[in-house]
Amino acid sequence: MKIDSKKLIKAAAKARLGSVSPYSEFKVGAALLTKSGEIVGGANVESASYGLTCCAERIALFKALTDGKRNFIAVAVVARCDGGPMPCGACRQLLREYAADAAVFIADSADLKTVKSFTVKELLPEAFVIVP
Ligand code: THU
Repeated sequence: MKIDSKKLIKAAAKARLGSVSPYSEFKVGAALLTKSGEIVGGANVESASYGLTCCAERIALFKALTDGKRNFIAVAVVARCDGGPMPCGACRQLLREYAADAAVFIADSADLKTVKSFTVKELLPEAFVIVP
């Protein structure tokens, strides 16, 4: 199946509107695509105890996983920053564990037409995994 990266980027941009980021005011949206074509979005949620903040990618992943979804083939991440937001190390680890074969699409919310493409394995080579 050819992945529609533009459509997934748009879903991430829509999910971004749900960001709860009163401290950084840095809104991030993510959208996961399953093999069967389902899309699950998520956005970052921040805490006054800053370290408890959860990134958009992990919110989307946890939503999808706890709804029983598996077989992720792509994830898109959008925020307003030049070149788009690269996933942090913690998110790369979780994506590597639960979306190992996924493509990763990144875009600046101010320029959704310019999309950078990676794979999860490229973003976290030689990862720590117990179940391969
Ligand atoms: N953030 C994400 O949502 N994804 C990332 O990969 C990196 C950072 C969020 C966390 C925090 O709410 C805000 O961006 C600023 O760090």
